[in-house]
Amino acid sequence: MDKTTIIEEINRYAQENLVHTFDPGKTYIPPAAPQLEASDVKTLSEVLLQFWYTEYKYCRKFEKELERVTGKPHVSLVNSGSSASLVAITAAVRIFDPGHTKKYILTCATGFPTTVSPIIQNGYIPIYVDMNDDLTPNLFSIASAIDFYDSALVGAVFAHTLGFPFDEKKIRELLGPDRFLVSDCCDALGATTSNLPVGSFSDFSTLSFFPSHHIMAAEGGAVMSNTDEHASLVSSISNWGRSCFCRPGESNTCGKRFTWEDRGDLPEGWDHKYIFSEVGYNLKMTEFQGALGYSQIQRLDKFVDARKENYQYLYGELNRSEYHPHIHLIEPSSSFSPFGFPILVTSDVFTAGDLIAWLEGHKVGTRRLFAGNLVRQPGFMNQRYAIVGDLYGSDMLMNQMFWISVSPSLNRSMLNYMIYMIDQFFISRGLV
Ligand SMILES: Cc1ncc(COP(=O)(O)O)c(C=O)c1O
Repeated sequence: MDKTTIIEEINRYAQENLVHTFDPGKTYIPPAAPQLEASDVKTLSEVLLQFWYTEYKYCRKFEKELERVTGKPHVSLVNSGSSASLVAITAAVRIFDPGHTKKYILTCATGFPTTVSPIIQNGYIPIYVDMNDDLTPNLFSIASAIDFYDSALVGAVFAHTLGFPFDEKKIRELLGPDRFLVSDCCDALGATTSNLPVGSFSDFSTLSFFPSHHIMAAEGGAVMSNTDEHASLVSSISNWGRSCFCRPGESNTCGKRFTWEDRGDLPEGWDHKYIFSEVGYNLKMTEFQGALGYSQIQRLDKFVDARKENYQYLYGELNRSEYHPHIHLIEPSSSFSPFGFPILVTSDVFTAGDLIAWLEGHKVGTRRLFAGNLVRQPGFMNQRYAIVGDLYGSDMLMNQMFWISVSPSLNRSMLNYMIYMIDQFFISRGLV
């Protein structure tokens, strides 16, 4: 059998088997589901038969597409969104605080843990600010922290949580030119801030391609940067810390493989391939991930539109005056690119836990707002940290918020079932 026939057979198999049926009350509706199509599987089978599995031409093509959609001049692929955070923050502190004379990095108490872990892993102390109920970090707390910590503050990392963008331009202005801003855009591909793609005002921004995100690469992530110097630092940190910038399979692209000058105390003639200019890791993406990401990004606009449409539909159906004393919803905006549909329980007759248990019991998947308030998490509560204010908002979101799906894989009957089950909850409690 020749290669084309094998690939076409795989494509046919995927078309026949990637079929999802929905049986209300029996089929679980996950809070976030990937949108895998036969064309994705076909692209993966091409890689399989290309017999080269470390980063190669699909990774290059995926990088180019990401440059286009993020508007950033440099994109480096890595193996997860968490690795992207690690690389971005590591690069940022090496540039903005080369002697490690500063102490603090500003972040938000509510969010995903690996946005914050790299602060601790790099030996800095997180200063936690509060989150507002529209899921943006509190600007007033940010301004007062910058004032108070002043020259001990090296920069900030904030996430566009659940695809609801914060005002990057404003935070950039508050930080000034001598402190870095890292934007975690893992939940927010397709969202905008000041009419530009999220990440536009940051020194480094990050993306995740974990299956539940806007596009998936099985696992995967990317770090976006603005300058050649920043991009080569990012690339070195995720490529073992090496000075050599040859891609896998390449050799001597610098033309100075055995005459590279910046080699520390290494002997003359030392191979540039093994000169390590940074303390680094191996966090590279594979060609399979690059190919899947490239295949998925062709449908990004469709995915983002479907997410917005699903959000709008849920909002339209659930934003009812009789529900207002009990739940609070975030109004759709033109700038968001929703990752989920958050519901804040404001009732004094039931809790978020009650509604979550009801929905999960009826096959509607839910998720809490990631780690809730990080200072309550066992892995973080005993680390050194500082807080601004009392983190009342973060505790409130931890206790009262959860989210359900707006995945492009949802169809109208699934959305209607989700709405119906929320209605049934209110009816069962005698609240409508
Ligand atoms: C805001 C945010 N940052 C970072 C990550 C980590 O991404 P990954 O799961 O690819 O490591 C996630 C994961 O969902 C996330 O939601």
